[in-house]
Amino acid sequence: MLLEIEDGIAWVTLNRPEKRNAINPGIVYAMREIMAQVETDDRCKVMVLTGAGEAFCAGMDLKEYFRETDNDPVERARLVRANGDWQWRHLRVFSKPTIAMVNGWCFGGAFTPLISCDLAIASQDAVFGLSEINWGIIPAGVVSRAVAAVVREREAMYYIMTGDKFDGRRAAEIGLVNEAVPAEQLRERTVELARKLMDKNPTVLKQAKIAHRIASEMSWEQGADYLMAKSDQSLLHDAERGRDTGMSQFLDEKSFRPGLGAYRRDTSL
Ligand code: COA
Repeated sequence: MLLEIEDGIAWVTLNRPEKRNAINPGIVYAMREIMAQVETDDRCKVMVLTGAGEAFCAGMDLKEYFRETDNDPVERARLVRANGDWQWRHLRVFSKPTIAMVNGWCFGGAFTPLISCDLAIASQDAVFGLSEINWGIIPAGVVSRAVAAVVREREAMYYIMTGDKFDGRRAAEIGLVNEAVPAEQLRERTVELARKLMDKNPTVLKQAKIAHRIASEMSWEQGADYLMAKSDQSLLHDAERGRDTGMSQFLDEKSFRPGLGAYRRDTSL
């Protein structure tokens, strides 16, 4: 695993290029540590998850994660727990914005961290696949559930049932990633998006993303009540007093339009 911090971005790189960054126990346990580190390091404003070499991630390691623990239920259970911890329990509600930068092969188990990141940008020629059906298993872990959260139903069923691969452009069409760009622009576009997120009020950004994640699985009644409480919590925690500043700039100073751009943050508060 590789962690590089540069201009506010924590670049977290799955770093087993010779194994196409397949997720083995080493990656599972390292990711838990790295995410805890990124979350508490003030230099990290946005986390980008990517892969070394020609792959984003070739899914779970069939040898080290599966076969070698087939007869060791205790270690398997420990691994499944730890893997779920980083891939979705923590990643979905990570307190800082997250972007998956899909640079190449992306298969099976890799879909979970991909979908758990808030945003995703792919290289147009990255290759995706729910390959499980091709070798006699179903997209488990929590892959199928994750896919249902972002991909339209017809396409989800098609790719789960056929195992057909598809490219970055198609991934954008079906909602699996936000956009696909030519490979040579991938990093530049990711940095551009990260900078846009870094300009926002970090407290409100954190509350907004977590609120959306949780509310999307609630009934409307529960959602309305939870969101009002979350909104109050956001105001309480916002040291910048963003709402007051924004209101005043719009209503009193008439110096900005919320529909047209961001208020001028007062980070001195
Ligand atoms: N688990 C374990 N090892 C894997 C792996 C995985 N998911 N994906 C790749 N590797 C290993 C290969 O076994 C090979 O190891 P070796 O050098 O010891 O033989 C090495 O990584 C390179 O892979 P290789 O298949 O030779 O590379 P490629 O560039 O020709 O093909 C892929 C790349 C991604 C198309 C191919 O490796 C593949 O299909 N991987 C499995 C993808 C998948 O279905 N994942 C879902 C798992 S849930």
